[in-house]
Amino acid sequence: MMRFFYSIAISVVMISCNNSSGKQAGNKINPNIDAAGLYSMHCASCHKCDIDFTGPSLKGAADRWKDPELMYEFIRNPISVIQKDSYAAELQKKYKTVMIPSMLSREEIDAVLDYCNNQ
Ligand code: HEC
Repeated sequence: MMRFFYSIAISVVMISCNNSSGKQAGNKINPNIDAAGLYSMHCASCHKCDIDFTGPSLKGAADRWKDPELMYEFIRNPISVIQKDSYAAELQKKYKTVMIPSMLSREEIDAVLDYCNNQ
């Protein structure tokens, strides 16, 4: 009987993990992208997956935006989004640095965020 409850508990955990990691606007993650490599080359100097650093932790980042589209736009052009979105403006006030624009594609951004969500 205990075993039965265990397996239910484990499936519930697995289902909720799947949901949160797929949240990047519901996009499929391309398994051919080297997410860990992109992350360490382009993002890790300022971001950690699980704790705030020069910039916020990347785990669950997409979930913190009311409109995930704005998050992608922010990554490409932080200044323009800081000027029009109050959440981005608050981040900038808190971290006191403006993120360097990144030219990663949307697919690459999804892969990097998914990598962090699963750390
Ligand atoms: C030079 C440092 C720097 C680099 C490199 C950098 N970021 Fe940032 N990032 C920041 C800072 C600082 C913020 C907080 C907002 C601000 O002040 O501009 C931020 C904010 C973010 C946010 C919003 C986080 C939240 O809590 O909503 C995301 C998403 C993000 N960065 C993704 C990335 C990704 C993906 C990369 C790599 C492609 C990257 N960043 C590279 C400094 C950086």
